[in-house]
Amino acid sequence: RPAEPFAIVIFGAAGDLTKRLLLPALYNLARSNLLPQEFAIVGVAHTPMSQNDFRSKLNQDIHEFATVAVDDRLWQQFEQRLYYLSGEFQDAKTYHQLQNLLTQVDSACGTQGNYLFYLATASNFFCDIITQLGSVGLLREDDKQWRRVIIEKPFGRDLDSARTLNKQIGSVLKENQIYRIDHYLGKETVQNILVFRFGNGLFEPIWNRNNIDHVQITVAETVGVESRGNFYEGTGAVRDMVQNHLFQLLTMIAMEPPVSFNADAVRDEKSKLLKAVQPLTAETVLTHTVRGQYGESTVDGKPVPAYRSEPRVASDSNTETYAALKLTIDNWRWANVPFYLRTGKRLPKRVTEIAVQFKQVPSLLFQDTSIDRLTPNVLVLRIQPDEGISFQFGAKIPGPTVRMGSVNMDFCYADYFGTTPSTGYETLLYDCAIGDATLFQRSDNVELGWSVVTPILDVWGALPAREFPNYAAGSWGPKDADELLWRDGRQWRSSD
Ligand code: BG6
Repeated sequence: RPAEPFAIVIFGAAGDLTKRLLLPALYNLARSNLLPQEFAIVGVAHTPMSQNDFRSKLNQDIHEFATVAVDDRLWQQFEQRLYYLSGEFQDAKTYHQLQNLLTQVDSACGTQGNYLFYLATASNFFCDIITQLGSVGLLREDDKQWRRVIIEKPFGRDLDSARTLNKQIGSVLKENQIYRIDHYLGKETVQNILVFRFGNGLFEPIWNRNNIDHVQITVAETVGVESRGNFYEGTGAVRDMVQNHLFQLLTMIAMEPPVSFNADAVRDEKSKLLKAVQPLTAETVLTHTVRGQYGESTVDGKPVPAYRSEPRVASDSNTETYAALKLTIDNWRWANVPFYLRTGKRLPKRVTEIAVQFKQVPSLLFQDTSIDRLTPNVLVLRIQPDEGISFQFGAKIPGPTVRMGSVNMDFCYADYFGTTPSTGYETLLYDCAIGDATLFQRSDNVELGWSVVTPILDVWGALPAREFPNYAAGSWGPKDADELLWRDGRQWRSSD
């Protein structure tokens, strides 16, 4: 069903996120009839541009970035609903002008005073924008009108700054008006983790330390930092990926079943899981975490620069482009089951997956097979790009003697459901428009995520990197990451 009438106000409307993801996602929602007839987009940015310029810019952008062929008739209707305001985010005048513009939009488009503010700006503007919106009364709700704010990541840069930001915005907004986005939660396959676990009777009874040996979560990217050197220098892999995207995967795979699929019930369970993560200490940061930075190499026959030679990166930078960690979860379900997490840029393959490795059989029945040659059962949830689920198990190799080989049962999303031409932002934008916060982070979820990584950031920040760069672009990361698992008699799953 379409959402109620509303206008979306995008701060940072001239930027990359808007053209690459938000605009195509909104267009896809319109195509699927999930947007109301009474709808408008108001762009706000400091780039000087007239309303007509904005409309032609977005016309070009949609033709470049749409995930489906653009229907000209639909686009023409859509285009009539685009408005633009040029202004500085810190200037009070911008917000008075916005208030006037929104009154005009309400009467031209019938948006009824329901506003979704999307902060697609650098994080240092979040607090200012919200405070200013509050001071002109644009965040005040009543029985007839709702006001919601989507905040992009990064939400803070450590526990203290996240707490401060939560406090500041909490003085202007109620928690149920705040939608902290993590785009991983918009991915079908990430949402499917809960459906897989809690919609099937088979898995939950074995989903625990009695049957599971360990879990590996991999988010590997082939890209380097590209043009984002300036941002990435002050961020690094832990802040950019671990605290948010990897922890979403961790909580979804490990949390207890929620009592319902309601926003607070789901988010309560995520917080409980993060609270159960055994805190890292200065000593365990040294033994349970690995950081890396890529050096120059040749990838697909092309030379690739070292991170330190990327634009706007310091030539002696200590910023990590790779992180691996071993976490343990102190609860009844997961005691003594290690969770190994890794993420990195310039790895050999783009792959995001969760591998749940089951315990080995207790004794060996078959001749000609030694226990160390038996491959354990592994359930792999492939998040992207080749979305699906596979289960690895042993089978008899045909022949007169009993020999075992490892085979795969494979479910592939595209084969079953076809490909969905979506950006991942459709679900999140629609959910916010209908007031469903299940797939957004609550303040405590974000703070708990920061509590887990803050000791890592503190220790890494205090000690210089031993030796950077320590992995070649196009390789699977530093040797220390392999040792992290070898020490436990395990190894990273090969993703080739
Ligand atoms: C972003 C990070 O949040 O996620 C980027 O800032 C990263 O550095 C991106 O490349 C990865 O997202 P996806 O959807 O391509 O896995």
